[in-house]
Amino acid sequence: MIKRLELTNFRNYISLSLDLPPGLIILQGDNAQGKTNFLEAIYLLATTRSPFSKTDQEFVNWLAQDSPLPFAKIAGVIEGQDGSTRIELVIAGEPSPSGVRYRKKAFINGVPKRLIDILGRLCCVLFSPSDIEIVSGPPEGRRRFLDIALCQVDSKYCQALALYNKVVERRNHLLKRAQEEGFNEEEFLFWDESLVKYGSIVTKTRWEALGTMAPEVRKTHMALTEAEESLQVLYICSALGEVISDPGLANPPSLEEIEKAMAQRLAQARNKDLDQGVTTIGPHRDDVRFLLNGRDISAYGSRGQQRSAAFSLRLAEMTFIEKASGESPLLLLDEVLSELDQKRRERLTEIVSQAPQAIITTLEWGGFRKEFLAKAHLFTVTQGNVRAVSLSSIPTAA
Ligand SMILES: Nc1ncnc2c1ncn2[C@@H]1O[C@H](COP(=O)(O)OP(=O)(O)OP(=O)(O)O)[C@@H](O)[C@H]1O
Ligand SMILES: [Mg+2]
Repeated sequence: MIKRLELTNFRNYISLSLDLPPGLIILQGDNAQGKTNFLEAIYLLATTRSPFSKTDQEFVNWLAQDSPLPFAKIAGVIEGQDGSTRIELVIAGEPSPSGVRYRKKAFINGVPKRLIDILGRLCCVLFSPSDIEIVSGPPEGRRRFLDIALCQVDSKYCQALALYNKVVERRNHLLKRAQEEGFNEEEFLFWDESLVKYGSIVTKTRWEALGTMAPEVRKTHMALTEAEESLQVLYICSALGEVISDPGLANPPSLEEIEKAMAQRLAQARNKDLDQGVTTIGPHRDDVRFLLNGRDISAYGSRGQQRSAAFSLRLAEMTFIEKASGESPLLLLDEVLSELDQKRRERLTEIVSQAPQAIITTLEWGGFRKEFLAKAHLFTVTQGNVRAVSLSSIPTAA
């Protein structure tokens, strides 16, 4: 859990220092006051990535961007299995020939560390209205979903993924050069081997994670729809060129098997890769598909059905992180309660009430029952300032 949050020049928070209690925290504020930014800051501290595709520059307060050495800082005191740790993530701008270049830097207890080292210190799951895009949007969002969940609990995965991405970039560069200067087999040997080596780790780990999540997704969805809808997860595994559903998901092949299959497919795709100037085989081309009663939900599902599937997926992510890390993740809910129907709302309220720590944002206090508010620690946010309020001082409906 997070005990304290400090923000400097982070979006509309010029300076914030806030102690956070365990249990339920509700953050109320009008539009554009900083509710989402608050959750985003915590999410960044936990995962080093934004829930949305963003440039690092966006995080730095507009006014601060004009200073000679612009920066934003997110600092948190995290209470974990091995005591209290202070984690800092600094987004710093440095002058470069093409303007200011922003980079993230990490510190643990004041000591500079690699970004990867702060992962897993604070595991969190964010429920946000844009979650629906995981289900309905392009494959990139689904890979991102998997990567962020996995990187929080598996540092080997995170390392393999970082190396894999570099290899793909390098290999694509080589392919483009080969288009102009001709193909040289030897140049590719090392990169193909590396691609297979790291790509197989990424593939196997994703496969295993989906194997854990798929039954959870199905179970939650069944419970929420009273068994009217069955939601099935498919892994479109690029390395093997296969579509894997259960029970295959529950039985991933060995690393050697994946390596062999991937090397073979990579060799077969060489001419195509050379033609297109990009690597067409590997987990950067993976996808996940959801079938609702046998049909692809991104093509045939209603908005409500897609939203429910995304919701089931988040709950599955929660269980996955719990199993993999041995700790319940911090739950961040960005105004999601108001957009869920009664049943999902009740389910989520129940889960949130049991979480060691959960932060919920809301526009209106009136959306919650009084008993729920009475259990929670209440805060309001106004123009990047957060203060605690008492139940007696707020207007409530129920
Ligand atoms: N880099 C930045 N510098 C200064 N302000 C920023 C920066 N990035 C975003 N903002 C501003 O922060 C404000 C708060 O945004 P945020 O998304 O947190 O609001 P919110 O409270 O979640 O509102 P809503 O209820 O509409 O979702 C917005 O007005 C936005 O323009
Ligand atoms: Mg918001």
